[in-house]
Amino acid sequence: MISRAACRAGFGLWLLLAPACAADAPARSPAEIMDILMWNREPVGGPFELTDHTGHVRTDRDFRGQLMLVYFGFTYCPDICPTDLQAIGQALDKLGRDGERVQPLFISVDPERDTAQHLAEYVPLFHPRLIGLTGSVDAVRKAAEAYKVYFAKVPIGKEAGDYTVDHTAFIYLMDRDGNYLGFFPPGTTADRMVEIIRPRLTEPAR
Ligand code: NI
Repeated sequence: MISRAACRAGFGLWLLLAPACAADAPARSPAEIMDILMWNREPVGGPFELTDHTGHVRTDRDFRGQLMLVYFGFTYCPDICPTDLQAIGQALDKLGRDGERVQPLFISVDPERDTAQHLAEYVPLFHPRLIGLTGSVDAVRKAAEAYKVYFAKVPIGKEAGDYTVDHTAFIYLMDRDGNYLGFFPPGTTADRMVEIIRPRLTEPAR
């Protein structure tokens, strides 16, 4: 793995590593990210501007007044992403009408393959109200950094396009003003999410 420090180590090295640094090198290791989240060492969340699965530009401000469930992943993810997205969809159903005041967001960490069109085929599999978001590699990286998400491309074959994406898979809960409330670890059940989310919905809006 190429660290950011290595990317900046020298001009010669920079030339050698530049493509990987620009597109693939993680800013921080998964362990660092974990540490930040576990101990609340840094703020989580912030502004983003991305394209939704219908092709419209969406920002965090569009979702003020609703709780946000924010999940980063990618559509080719074989295991963790679909499981967690399914749990998010089930939690919304279990919340019933209250679920309408929760906006689930799926932000792709694989924007090169996850076009808006591709997301449009994927997100309805989990919930009709799930919004898929993608964008430029830069825009996605900015959002991921704000949410303390680790992701990195990992080649799995000889072809340039054969890769998977390693990523942390926390489900972030944000309040009606877009402030961070906390995270659900990967594998959290729908019932557990409902238990945590429901009391938040009965709090009076500020
Ligand atoms: Ni995944």
